[in-house]
Amino acid sequence: MIIQTISMKSVTAEGMGTLSVFEAGRDVPFDIKRIYYIHGAPAGVQRGGHAHKALRQVLWCPYGSILIRLDDGVEKTEVLLDDPARGLIVEHYMWREMIWQQADSVLCVAADSYYDADDYIRDYDVFKRLVKSGGTEA
Ligand code: TYD
Repeated sequence: MIIQTISMKSVTAEGMGTLSVFEAGRDVPFDIKRIYYIHGAPAGVQRGGHAHKALRQVLWCPYGSILIRLDDGVEKTEVLLDDPARGLIVEHYMWREMIWQQADSVLCVAADSYYDADDYIRDYDVFKRLVKSGGTEA
């Protein structure tokens, strides 16, 4: 499985922290219509457990440490997001689970579409069948 990560441009001001930045259509391969973030989760929490039919996203963790488990229906891999200047591109038809390694870690997501509950695949068996059929039948 090819994992796409982005290394954000980071500008450190001596003694004043670091500014990290990425730009839609330049550093990530799509435009961004929606940003959301998950905060206030205790260590050990697992979220996700779904895939998307069309949505493309970039995930990053500006604070803390979150393990991202990815499964394209054929292969599985893990990426640890613990660097505020690193982003992970998650394409459509990618089953994902996010596990909080540290309390209060923040997961930020920038997505290429507005929220659409119908774009979710929440049943793993349905996901596997859709991957096998190229997305034509569940
Ligand atoms: P969900 O995508 O299931 O998050 P996770 O996989 O991390 O648990 O979303 C959690 C809830 O938030 C669900 O009820 C849908 C709602 N939600 C929105 O209303 N708008 C959004 O943009 C997102 C991402 C979720």
